[in-house]
Amino acid sequence: GQAPSPGGGTPAGADTILLGQVGALTGGQATFGISTRNGIELALKEANAAGGVNGKKLAIRVYDNQSKPEEAAQAATRLITQDKVVLILGDVASSNSLAMAEKAQAAGVPMITPSSTNTTVTEKGDYIFRVCFIDPFQGFVMAKFARDDLKLGKVAVLQDNKSAYSIDLSGVFTRKFTEMGGKIATTESYSQGDTDYRAQLTAIKKTQPDGIYVPGYYSEVGVIARQAREVGLKVPLMGGDGWDSEKLFELGGSAITGSYFSNHYSPDNPDPRVQKFIADYKAAYGGVPDALAALGYDAARVAIEALKRAKDLSGPSVRDAIAQTKDFPGVAGTVTLDEKRNAVKSAVVLKVGDGKTQYVTTINP
Ligand code: PHE
Repeated sequence: GQAPSPGGGTPAGADTILLGQVGALTGGQATFGISTRNGIELALKEANAAGGVNGKKLAIRVYDNQSKPEEAAQAATRLITQDKVVLILGDVASSNSLAMAEKAQAAGVPMITPSSTNTTVTEKGDYIFRVCFIDPFQGFVMAKFARDDLKLGKVAVLQDNKSAYSIDLSGVFTRKFTEMGGKIATTESYSQGDTDYRAQLTAIKKTQPDGIYVPGYYSEVGVIARQAREVGLKVPLMGGDGWDSEKLFELGGSAITGSYFSNHYSPDNPDPRVQKFIADYKAAYGGVPDALAALGYDAARVAIEALKRAKDLSGPSVRDAIAQTKDFPGVAGTVTLDEKRNAVKSAVVLKVGDGKTQYVTTINP
């Protein structure tokens, strides 16, 4: 790719440090961007109340990518060239983050994705970071849970062919589950935005699986769960972090109850730091924060800590400061960034209950 040129920086004399966020505030993944924005906003408010960064206040500009990679790339470019932000936070969906990372890396503006788990995102270059685990681990987590806890022998997979996240997670699960002695009954696919999954589900039913792995986003998964029950599939559904949204319960109704997914955090975590975050978030936004909110909060706090340590606010200096993040106490686990700019963390398995999730277990890397 292109050699990074120093980017970022605030207008001379300004007493504000401007950050940028790109997120899905509308479209199929709207809860992702909104939750993330709330988490980031909470972190900025707290930091500003505590004096900001070396005497400067923090501000943020947020752009909607409408849940589309092309829009995400354009929004990142706008943040870099027009707003001249010091760093970019976002996005959630890996396909969007991949499009943004291209721009951030080329401009030498650091980017931290709170929650994109696809391996290739941080491989876009040395300015791209994440504060969450990656999918080779997440796929292992659900394969292990399916084998060791649910004791499943034969599982069908239903993947979203429009999502880098879903395709990769499906591949990892398949490999790990097979290595652990399980069998994949069939792999079927859909495209994000589809509304009728009956053909794939009927094909899956013919293979008589013990479970179905659906590594997609909540917007499709909820509908898939209903149609699975309609065609007579009664086996448990399993998925990944992309299920995490309060909308999942609404879309899936009783059809999704009793299913399992891997995630970054559980609101049931009794850690006082986590419970304080939940209480503060509820007071500000009125609902229990999901993993996106928790990771948005963590990403912003990692960024703020780095800005405090950076020798100046140029792209290279901020990049170096972020890269040095070690043992940072996040609400979704401790963040230490490795040489590939990823965080190595444990995952939780959650069970979908009636209108909320239930913590089941923690799986360590
Ligand atoms: N990990 C997903 C991706 O990379 C995004 C996601 C994270 C969705 C956490 C929900 C919760 O696309």
